[in-house]
Amino acid sequence: MWTKKDLQKLIKDKMGDYLFIVVSNRQPYVHVLKKGQVVCQRGAGGVITALDPVMQACNGIWVAFGSGEADRQASDSEGKIMVPPDSPSYTLKRVWLSKEEENGYYYGYSNEALWPLCHMAFQRPTFRTNDWQYYKTVNEKFAKAIIKEVGKKRAFIWIQDYHLCLLPKMLKEMAPKQLVVAHFWHIPWPNYETFRICPQKKEILEGLLANDLLGFHIRYHCDNFIDIIDREIESKIDRERFAIVRSKRETLIRPYPISVDFEGISEIANSAQVRDASKALEEEYGLSRYKVLLGLDRIDYTKGIPERLLAVDRLLEKHPELKEKIVFLQMGEISRIHIPKYKALNDEINALVEQINWKHSTEGWKPVILVRRHLSFHELLAFYRLGDICIVSSLHDGMNLVAKEFISSRSDEGGMLVLSQFTGAARELIESITINPYDRDQFSQGILEAIKLPDKERIRRMRKMRKVVQQNNIFRWAGKILSELLKFEFKE
Ligand code: G6P
Repeated sequence: MWTKKDLQKLIKDKMGDYLFIVVSNRQPYVHVLKKGQVVCQRGAGGVITALDPVMQACNGIWVAFGSGEADRQASDSEGKIMVPPDSPSYTLKRVWLSKEEENGYYYGYSNEALWPLCHMAFQRPTFRTNDWQYYKTVNEKFAKAIIKEVGKKRAFIWIQDYHLCLLPKMLKEMAPKQLVVAHFWHIPWPNYETFRICPQKKEILEGLLANDLLGFHIRYHCDNFIDIIDREIESKIDRERFAIVRSKRETLIRPYPISVDFEGISEIANSAQVRDASKALEEEYGLSRYKVLLGLDRIDYTKGIPERLLAVDRLLEKHPELKEKIVFLQMGEISRIHIPKYKALNDEINALVEQINWKHSTEGWKPVILVRRHLSFHELLAFYRLGDICIVSSLHDGMNLVAKEFISSRSDEGGMLVLSQFTGAARELIESITINPYDRDQFSQGILEAIKLPDKERIRRMRKMRKVVQQNNIFRWAGKILSELLKFEFKE
């Protein structure tokens, strides 16, 4: 089993004197203003959990968009600051973007073009030439910032996600012999029929093919990518080595299913602080008498939140005996709200909750509670511990870490997972109750099955899933990618 220490050892043994640079849109630490004071907060999410210790071990540089309101105040004239605040050991270098750049590159091309293009959620992508121009400009900004840091050194670069498709090619053109570049794609990669509509497809593929290593969550996405290259780009596909070869340069394509810090989450979920938080939340929302169904997502149309509400509605229609026995608690963090589709989804969710509560509520009981506020990590784990059933119903999801976090937090062996078959996680968590979020009846039947599952069978399944996540943890994900990356040699 991979641990944080193994990952740090790998870096210490193999990285040598080379520079290590991680690049992502979101930064690991953000500076905000609280009561007029500059406060540093650690970003949420699995990638930061995995890469923060790696960066601390190799004293590398993390390049990201400086999105925090107090970021400029906290950084030096080059946008740099040493982090983490309590034991500064690596450099966070912030790339500054204007409002127009953020709009065009982040809200526009990344999240109105590429995001819907890659997720099969029947949302039509919008390709605006203007957004694409900003996307290019911002990728170039990142490239220049990185090259400035590399100087005359040799560096391993690890890029994250769909915001930075063009970066690998730009980097390789600026410093062809000094860089080894890997890229991990955190969202699904679509099939050819879907991808071919993208007006900028050639540039995107050319950008990504400049990577030495390109990772996706699952083999299926690797196959989709290779199939598209086969149809769109002149190249040789080496199916035995899973590599794409072009004029003597090659890109390895590999699946690396991302995960969570199982041990870390288990431990914190067992702490007195989380237990107290659980009690407080149980009281605050009056949950003690009910079986608690749980949903927890960024408010995004790929997550199948309306579908989930409608499945609960169907469940109560068909099984009115469940009234006053269950409560569905949906937590949703607002996301990308400047994009009209996200705003509309928020309104749709509010309206649905109203409607379902009006339809089914009895005196003193309503079926759905919508929680809008931001949750601290401890509160998040406290919520997981309160849930009898966690429902993940994504219409399409590269992996879905909520499912894995929920499993990891249940060291009490409580709870059960209802999981969409369209998540990457469904391939590993085969002991969950899998549902098709598009099939309201089957979905509501799945929830009922989870409610009725005998304890012995439920515990057996939870134990199996916990083993899977424990083995395939986040450190294994990062360790496997870094082991492959560090095998590459620099060009003479
Ligand atoms: C997905 C993407 C990440 C992104 C996250 C949150 O998981 O793969 O790159 O950071 O969503 O979205 P946001 O737009 O808030 O960064």
